Amino acid sequence: MKAKKIVTAEILSNREIAKGIMELKLEAPEVASSAKPGQFVNVYTGDNALLLPRPISICDAEGSVLTLVYAVVGRGTQWFSECCTGQLLRVSTPLGNGYDLSVVKAGDTALLIGGGIGVCPLIKLAKVLTAKGVAVRAAMGFRDEPFLVEEMKAIGAEVAVATDSGRVGYRGTALAAAMDAGMDCEHWFSCGPKVMLKFVAEEAKRRGRDAQISMEERMGCGYGACVGCVVDIRIEGQEEPVRKKVCKDGPVFRGSEVIFHE
Ligand code: FES
Repeated sequence: MKAKKIVTAEILSNREIAKGIMELKLEAPEVASSAKPGQFVNVYTGDNALLLPRPISICDAEGSVLTLVYAVVGRGTQWFSECCTGQLLRVSTPLGNGYDLSVVKAGDTALLIGGGIGVCPLIKLAKVLTAKGVAVRAAMGFRDEPFLVEEMKAIGAEVAVATDSGRVGYRGTALAAAMDAGMDCEHWFSCGPKVMLKFVAEEAKRRGRDAQISMEERMGCGYGACVGCVVDIRIEGQEEPVRKKVCKDGPVFRGSEVIFHE
Protein backbone atom coordinates (compact mmCIF):
# COMPACT_ATOMS: atom_id res chain seq x y z
CA MET A 1 0.00 0.00 0.00
CA LYS A 2 1.25 3.48 -0.87
CA ALA A 3 2.24 5.75 2.01
CA LYS A 4 -0.63 7.80 3.28
CA LYS A 5 -0.56 11.49 2.62
CA ILE A 6 -3.05 13.95 4.03
CA VAL A 7 -4.33 16.78 1.85
CA THR A 8 -6.73 19.65 2.42
CA ALA A 9 -9.88 19.54 0.31
CA GLU A 10 -12.65 22.08 -0.17
CA ILE A 11 -16.25 20.97 0.24
CA LEU A 12 -18.19 21.55 -3.00
CA SER A 13 -21.46 20.15 -1.61
CA ASN A 14 -22.69 18.08 1.31
CA ARG A 15 -26.32 17.00 1.06
CA GLU A 16 -28.67 14.31 2.29
CA ILE A 17 -29.60 11.88 -0.51
CA ALA A 18 -31.67 9.49 1.63
CA LYS A 19 -32.62 9.44 5.31
CA GLY A 20 -29.33 9.55 7.25
CA ILE A 21 -27.24 9.14 4.08
CA MET A 22 -25.07 12.07 2.97
CA GLU A 23 -23.26 12.73 -0.29
CA LEU A 24 -20.08 14.78 0.14
CA LYS A 25 -18.29 16.24 -2.89
CA LEU A 26 -14.75 17.49 -2.41
CA GLU A 27 -12.35 19.37 -4.64
CA ALA A 28 -9.40 17.01 -4.16
CA PRO A 29 -7.42 16.59 -7.40
CA GLU A 30 -4.60 14.53 -5.90
CA VAL A 31 -7.02 12.08 -4.30
CA ALA A 32 -9.51 11.87 -7.17
CA SER A 33 -6.87 11.30 -9.85
CA SER A 34 -5.33 8.32 -8.06
CA ALA A 35 -8.52 6.65 -6.74
CA LYS A 36 -9.19 3.05 -7.73
CA PRO A 37 -12.55 1.30 -7.28
CA GLY A 38 -12.85 -0.26 -3.82
CA GLN A 39 -10.34 2.02 -2.13
CA PHE A 40 -11.24 4.28 0.78
CA VAL A 41 -10.00 7.52 2.33
CA ASN A 42 -9.63 8.63 5.91
CA VAL A 43 -11.47 11.85 6.61
CA TYR A 44 -10.51 13.93 9.64
CA THR A 45 -12.94 15.93 11.71
CA GLY A 46 -12.03 19.41 12.93
CA ASP A 47 -13.21 18.43 16.42
CA ASN A 48 -10.23 17.86 18.74
CA ALA A 49 -12.28 15.51 20.90
CA LEU A 50 -12.57 13.16 17.91
CA LEU A 51 -8.98 12.23 17.23
CA LEU A 52 -9.46 9.23 14.96
CA PRO A 53 -10.28 9.86 11.32
CA ARG A 54 -13.26 8.13 9.77
CA PRO A 55 -12.64 5.67 6.92
CA ILE A 56 -15.11 6.29 4.08
CA SER A 57 -15.17 4.35 0.81
CA ILE A 58 -14.70 6.21 -2.45
CA CYS A 59 -18.03 6.37 -4.25
CA ASP A 60 -16.79 8.22 -7.31
CA ALA A 61 -13.85 10.24 -8.58
CA GLU A 62 -14.13 12.33 -11.74
CA GLY A 63 -11.55 14.91 -12.76
CA SER A 64 -10.62 16.76 -9.59
CA VAL A 65 -13.83 15.89 -7.71
CA LEU A 66 -14.02 13.16 -5.11
CA THR A 67 -17.47 11.89 -4.09
CA LEU A 68 -17.96 10.18 -0.74
CA VAL A 69 -21.29 8.85 0.49
CA TYR A 70 -21.59 8.10 4.19
CA ALA A 71 -24.18 7.12 6.76
CA VAL A 72 -24.60 9.38 9.77
CA VAL A 73 -24.06 6.86 12.54
CA GLY A 74 -21.94 8.48 15.26
CA ARG A 75 -20.29 11.68 16.45
CA GLY A 76 -17.71 11.79 13.64
CA THR A 77 -20.15 11.39 10.78
CA GLN A 78 -22.60 13.72 12.56
CA TRP A 79 -19.81 16.33 12.55
CA PHE A 80 -19.27 15.79 8.80
CA SER A 81 -23.00 16.09 8.13
CA GLU A 82 -22.97 19.62 9.58
CA CYS A 83 -20.11 20.82 7.34
CA CYS A 84 -20.92 23.42 4.70
CA THR A 85 -19.89 24.23 1.14
CA GLY A 86 -16.56 26.08 1.06
CA GLN A 87 -15.33 24.54 4.32
CA LEU A 88 -11.98 22.73 4.27
CA LEU A 89 -11.54 19.11 5.32
CA ARG A 90 -8.40 17.05 5.76
CA VAL A 91 -8.53 13.81 3.81
CA SER A 92 -5.99 11.08 3.13
CA THR A 93 -4.92 9.94 -0.31
CA PRO A 94 -6.63 6.64 -1.38
CA LEU A 95 -5.99 3.68 0.91
CA GLY A 96 -6.48 -0.07 0.63
CA ASN A 97 -6.06 -2.46 -2.25
CA GLY A 98 -9.33 -1.94 -4.15
CA TYR A 99 -10.86 -4.49 -6.52
CA ASP A 100 -8.51 -6.41 -8.82
CA LEU A 101 -9.64 -5.51 -12.34
CA SER A 102 -6.69 -7.11 -14.09
CA VAL A 103 -8.78 -10.31 -14.33
CA VAL A 104 -11.57 -8.56 -16.30
CA LYS A 105 -11.47 -7.92 -20.03
CA ALA A 106 -13.69 -6.32 -22.67
CA GLY A 107 -16.72 -8.45 -23.50
CA ASP A 108 -16.87 -10.00 -20.00
CA THR A 109 -19.87 -9.69 -17.71
CA ALA A 110 -19.71 -8.50 -14.10
CA LEU A 111 -22.25 -8.78 -11.29
CA LEU A 112 -22.01 -6.08 -8.61
CA ILE A 113 -23.88 -6.78 -5.37
CA GLY A 114 -24.16 -4.04 -2.75
CA GLY A 115 -25.99 -3.84 0.54
CA GLY A 116 -26.81 -0.57 2.32
CA ILE A 117 -23.90 1.86 2.42
CA GLY A 118 -21.94 -0.90 0.61
CA VAL A 119 -23.53 0.16 -2.69
CA CYS A 120 -21.33 3.30 -2.72
CA PRO A 121 -17.99 1.91 -4.00
CA LEU A 122 -19.89 0.05 -6.73
CA ILE A 123 -20.52 3.34 -8.57
CA LYS A 124 -16.85 3.97 -9.36
CA LEU A 125 -16.41 0.25 -10.02
CA ALA A 126 -19.30 0.19 -12.52
CA LYS A 127 -17.86 3.23 -14.33
CA VAL A 128 -14.41 1.71 -14.70
CA LEU A 129 -15.79 -1.67 -15.78
CA THR A 130 -18.13 -0.10 -18.33
CA ALA A 131 -15.25 1.95 -19.75
CA LYS A 132 -13.35 -1.32 -20.15
CA GLY A 133 -16.17 -2.74 -22.28
CA VAL A 134 -17.59 -4.98 -19.54
CA ALA A 135 -21.37 -5.48 -19.30
CA VAL A 136 -22.36 -4.57 -15.74
CA ARG A 137 -25.34 -5.89 -13.78
CA ALA A 138 -25.91 -4.40 -10.35
CA ALA A 139 -28.08 -5.66 -7.52
CA MET A 140 -28.56 -2.97 -4.88
CA GLY A 141 -30.14 -3.81 -1.54
CA PHE A 142 -31.47 -1.44 1.12
CA ARG A 143 -33.42 -1.61 4.34
CA ASP A 144 -36.19 0.66 3.09
CA GLU A 145 -35.05 3.66 1.06
CA PRO A 146 -32.82 3.21 -2.03
CA PHE A 147 -30.09 5.65 -3.05
CA LEU A 148 -27.56 5.89 -5.92
CA VAL A 149 -29.87 3.77 -8.10
CA GLU A 150 -30.31 6.47 -10.75
CA GLU A 151 -26.52 7.05 -10.78
CA MET A 152 -25.97 3.34 -11.38
CA LYS A 153 -28.57 3.26 -14.19
CA ALA A 154 -26.98 6.35 -15.79
CA ILE A 155 -23.71 4.43 -16.10
CA GLY A 156 -25.57 1.92 -18.26
CA ALA A 157 -25.78 -0.96 -15.81
CA GLU A 158 -28.74 -3.32 -15.66
CA VAL A 159 -30.06 -2.70 -12.15
CA ALA A 160 -32.13 -4.74 -9.70
CA VAL A 161 -33.26 -3.05 -6.49
CA ALA A 162 -34.19 -4.90 -3.33
CA THR A 163 -35.51 -3.65 0.01
CA ASP A 164 -36.02 -5.52 3.27
CA SER A 165 -39.34 -3.74 3.69
CA GLY A 166 -40.53 -4.40 0.15
CA ARG A 167 -41.18 -0.66 -0.30
CA VAL A 168 -39.21 -0.60 -3.56
CA GLY A 169 -38.29 -3.45 -5.88
CA TYR A 170 -37.74 -7.03 -4.80
CA ARG A 171 -38.64 -7.82 -1.17
CA GLY A 172 -35.51 -9.42 0.28
CA THR A 173 -31.77 -9.26 -0.19
CA ALA A 174 -29.77 -7.91 -3.12
CA LEU A 175 -28.31 -11.38 -3.67
CA ALA A 176 -31.76 -12.99 -3.80
CA ALA A 177 -32.93 -10.27 -6.22
CA ALA A 178 -29.92 -10.90 -8.47
CA MET A 179 -30.41 -14.66 -8.51
CA ASP A 180 -34.16 -14.29 -9.03
CA ALA A 181 -33.52 -12.06 -12.05
CA GLY A 182 -30.94 -14.46 -13.50
CA MET A 183 -28.12 -11.94 -13.21
CA ASP A 184 -25.24 -14.41 -12.73
CA CYS A 185 -22.02 -13.19 -14.42
CA GLU A 186 -18.44 -14.33 -14.94
CA HIS A 187 -17.09 -11.91 -12.35
CA TRP A 188 -18.65 -11.12 -9.00
CA PHE A 189 -17.89 -8.03 -6.90
CA SER A 190 -19.57 -7.16 -3.64
CA CYS A 191 -19.60 -4.76 -0.72
CA GLY A 192 -21.91 -4.68 2.26
CA PRO A 193 -22.63 -6.19 5.66
CA LYS A 194 -20.54 -9.22 6.64
CA VAL A 195 -23.49 -11.60 6.67
CA MET A 196 -24.36 -10.57 3.10
CA LEU A 197 -20.77 -11.06 1.94
CA LYS A 198 -20.77 -14.56 3.42
CA PHE A 199 -23.83 -15.52 1.38
CA VAL A 200 -22.41 -13.83 -1.74
CA ALA A 201 -19.13 -15.75 -1.37
CA GLU A 202 -21.02 -19.04 -0.90
CA GLU A 203 -23.41 -18.50 -3.80
CA ALA A 204 -20.55 -17.47 -6.10
CA LYS A 205 -18.63 -20.60 -5.14
CA ARG A 206 -21.69 -22.78 -5.87
CA ARG A 207 -21.68 -21.29 -9.36
CA GLY A 208 -17.96 -21.82 -9.86
CA ARG A 209 -17.02 -18.16 -9.28
CA ASP A 210 -14.79 -16.49 -6.73
CA ALA A 211 -16.34 -13.20 -5.63
CA GLN A 212 -14.20 -10.21 -4.74
CA ILE A 213 -15.69 -8.91 -1.52
CA SER A 214 -15.00 -5.63 0.26
CA MET A 215 -15.03 -6.11 4.04
CA GLU A 216 -15.11 -2.40 4.87
CA GLU A 217 -17.91 -2.76 7.40
CA ARG A 218 -15.33 -4.10 9.84
CA MET A 219 -13.15 -1.01 9.84
CA GLY A 220 -12.63 1.23 12.86
CA CYS A 221 -9.71 3.66 12.72
CA GLY A 222 -8.78 2.90 9.11
CA TYR A 223 -5.02 3.08 9.62
CA GLY A 224 -3.84 0.10 11.64
CA ALA A 225 -4.19 1.40 15.19
CA CYS A 226 -7.32 -0.22 16.63
CA VAL A 227 -6.90 -3.84 15.45
CA GLY A 228 -10.67 -3.95 15.26
CA CYS A 229 -10.64 -4.99 11.64
CA VAL A 230 -8.84 -8.34 11.74
CA VAL A 231 -10.16 -11.19 9.55
CA ASP A 232 -8.98 -14.80 9.31
CA ILE A 233 -7.68 -15.64 5.87
CA ARG A 234 -7.25 -19.15 4.48
CA ILE A 235 -3.94 -19.71 2.69
CA GLU A 236 -3.76 -22.52 0.17
CA GLY A 237 -1.64 -25.43 1.37
CA GLN A 238 -1.54 -24.05 4.89
CA GLU A 239 -3.55 -25.48 7.74
CA GLU A 240 -3.57 -22.47 10.06
CA PRO A 241 -5.34 -19.32 8.85
CA VAL A 242 -3.48 -16.02 8.93
CA ARG A 243 -4.88 -12.88 10.51
CA LYS A 244 -5.07 -9.87 8.22
CA LYS A 245 -6.17 -6.31 8.75
CA VAL A 246 -9.00 -5.07 6.56
CA CYS A 247 -7.59 -1.53 6.54
CA LYS A 248 -4.04 -2.52 5.61
CA ASP A 249 -4.40 -5.77 3.64
CA GLY A 250 -7.91 -5.19 2.28
CA PRO A 251 -10.61 -4.05 2.26
CA VAL A 252 -11.07 -6.33 -0.77
CA PHE A 253 -10.46 -10.07 -0.39
CA ARG A 254 -11.38 -13.16 -2.39
CA GLY A 255 -14.55 -14.78 -1.09
CA SER A 256 -12.78 -18.15 -1.11
CA GLU A 257 -10.03 -16.99 1.26
CA VAL A 258 -12.14 -15.34 3.99
CA ILE A 259 -13.11 -17.47 6.96
CA PHE A 260 -16.49 -16.28 8.19
CA HIS A 261 -17.03 -17.01 11.86
CA GLU A 262 -20.64 -17.28 12.95
FE1 FES B 1 -8.17 0.03 12.96
FE2 FES B 1 -7.73 -1.63 10.90
S1 FES B 1 -9.39 -0.31 11.19
S2 FES B 1 -6.56 -1.40 12.68
